[in-house]
Amino acid sequence: LNYTEPYRPQYHFSPAKNWMNDPAGLVYYNETYHLFFQYNPAGIEWGNMSWGHATSKDLTHWEERPVALLARGYPENVTEMYFTGSAVVDVNNTSGFGVDGKIPLVAMFTSMYPVSQELPSGKNVLAEQQSQSIAYSLDEGETWTTYDTENPVIHNPPSPYGAEFENFRDPFVFWHDDTQKWVAVTVLASLHKVVIWSSDNLKEWSLASEFGPYNAVGGVWECPNLFQMPIKGHPSIKKWVLVLGLNPGGPPGTVGSGTQYFIGDFNGTDFKADPASIYPDNKSANWMDWGPDFYAAASYNGLPEGDDVVQIAWMNNWQYGATIPTSPWRSAMSVPRQLSLKKVNGKVTLLQQPQYSWRSVANHQTLKHSWKSVSKGSTSLDSPGKAFKIDLSFADHDSNKSLASTFAIAVHASSDFKQETLIGYNFTSKEVFVDRRNSGDVSFDKTFASLYHAPLSANADKRINLQVFVDWSSVEVLGGQGEVSLTAQIFPDGNSTESRLVSTDGVTQDVRLRITGMDSAWH
Ligand code: FRU
Repeated sequence: LNYTEPYRPQYHFSPAKNWMNDPAGLVYYNETYHLFFQYNPAGIEWGNMSWGHATSKDLTHWEERPVALLARGYPENVTEMYFTGSAVVDVNNTSGFGVDGKIPLVAMFTSMYPVSQELPSGKNVLAEQQSQSIAYSLDEGETWTTYDTENPVIHNPPSPYGAEFENFRDPFVFWHDDTQKWVAVTVLASLHKVVIWSSDNLKEWSLASEFGPYNAVGGVWECPNLFQMPIKGHPSIKKWVLVLGLNPGGPPGTVGSGTQYFIGDFNGTDFKADPASIYPDNKSANWMDWGPDFYAAASYNGLPEGDDVVQIAWMNNWQYGATIPTSPWRSAMSVPRQLSLKKVNGKVTLLQQPQYSWRSVANHQTLKHSWKSVSKGSTSLDSPGKAFKIDLSFADHDSNKSLASTFAIAVHASSDFKQETLIGYNFTSKEVFVDRRNSGDVSFDKTFASLYHAPLSANADKRINLQVFVDWSSVEVLGGQGEVSLTAQIFPDGNSTESRLVSTDGVTQDVRLRITGMDSAWH
C-alpha cells in the first residue's frame, strides 16, 4: 500500500478508496480486532451502503478485507442497503448458526429498503423502511450469510411509533451477563428516543423499554452505544454509559454532527440516567467530543473480561463529509479511545485516553524541551513533520497583565505561518481550543473555517495538560485526564510542516513540551 496521497492519514484507518462513514460491528475475536464500516463500493459519496471490513492485531495496523455485506442487488438494482449496526461473538451458539462446533459471529444492522417489496421471509416492507436484520459468519468475518428466512428480525418500530418506520435504526447489540440475555439498543431517530430490546437467541426480540428525549435533541439521534464500566477509585461501583450521535446538533460552536453521553444504570431492560447526567429543558448535554469531527462512536464487543472499553468514531461530519478534498477515498476513523469513568470536580465523568497501541508507530524523532517562561509572541520550534504526537503542559493562571491570555502550539504551518492550525488554551475563558480558520483548504464548506472550544479547568497542580494526535489531515486533542476531547480535520498544504508556540498578550509559565514522531502504519 502506498498511502501517500495528499491528506492521507498515516496512523488512522481509512479505506484505500471510496466513501466510508460509521464504524460498525466492532468485535474482537481470536486475537483479531474487526472493524466494519459503512461503505460505498462504487464511489466517494454516500450510496449503495454496504459493510466494508478491516482487521488488525493491535488497533493501529489495519488490513482492508473484502466487502463483508454487499448491498443486495448491487450494482444494478439495490433493494436493500446495510446500514449501521454491531456484531457479537455468539460463544454459546444461542443463535444455532454455529455448525460443526464453529462459533458464529452474528451481526445485527439496519436494513434500509429503498423500494417497497415482499422479502424472502414473506414479510412486507415499505419504500424507505428501516428494519433490523441479522447475518452470521463462520469464517471470522470474511463472508456473511444474511438470515433471509426470517429477516428483518425487528420488523417495525414499537406500535405507538409505527409511523416512524423510516427513522428506526442502528442496533447496538451486546451480551448482558446479569440477565444472561442479548440486548439491542436502537433509536427512533426523529423522536429522540432510544428503544431497547432483549433476546435469548439473537433471532427473536422483545421490546424492553424506551429512553428519551433528554439533553441534546438537535436534528436526529443516531448510533446508540451502551456499555458498563467501573468508576476509577471505586471499583465496586459500576455504571452504564449511553452514547448517542446527534445530527445536526453537536456541541456549542459546531455545525453538523456531534456526540453526547449519559451516565446511569441499566438492569437488562431499563436505562435510567443519573440525575447529574440530565439537564432540565434540554438546555445542555454531556459532550463526548467538543470538535466537529467525531461521530457514530462505537465500542468493541468481545474484548477479554476486565479489559477497558475501547471506542472508535467516524472522524468526519455530515455537514461537509461528502465534500472534503480527499481522493480516491473519503473519511477516516478516530484514534481508538480507551474509556474510563472517574469523579472529576465531584462529578462522574467519562475520560478518554488513546488506546496504547499508537506507541507501535511512535518513532525516535522526539523533541523535548521545557521553558521556565515562554515569551510573549511566537517561539519557533524544529519542524515536527506531518504526523506526530504532542504532550504539552503549562501552568494555569488568573488574569494578570504580564501573563498570556492564550497559549497555543501551531502545527501544519507554512513557513510564513499564514497557514497554521492552532491548538491551545484560553486562560480567561478556561477553554481548550482548536483554531482551523487558517488550516489550509477550507473552501469546500462555508462552516469549516472555525474555532472550536471545550471547557477545561486546571488539575490539582494548577497545570493544563494537553495530548494532541496530529496526522496528515486531523488533530485530536485530549485535555486534562481526558475529560475533554476535541477532534477536527484539517487539509493543509503538503509542505506545511512548521510548528511554533504562540503566547498572546504576555508570557506562559512552566511549559513542558514533548513531540514524538509517528511513522506510517501502512508500510
Ligand atoms: C449515521 C447514519 C446512521 C445510518 C448510517 C447510514 O451516520 O446516518 O444512522 O445507519 O449513517 O449510512
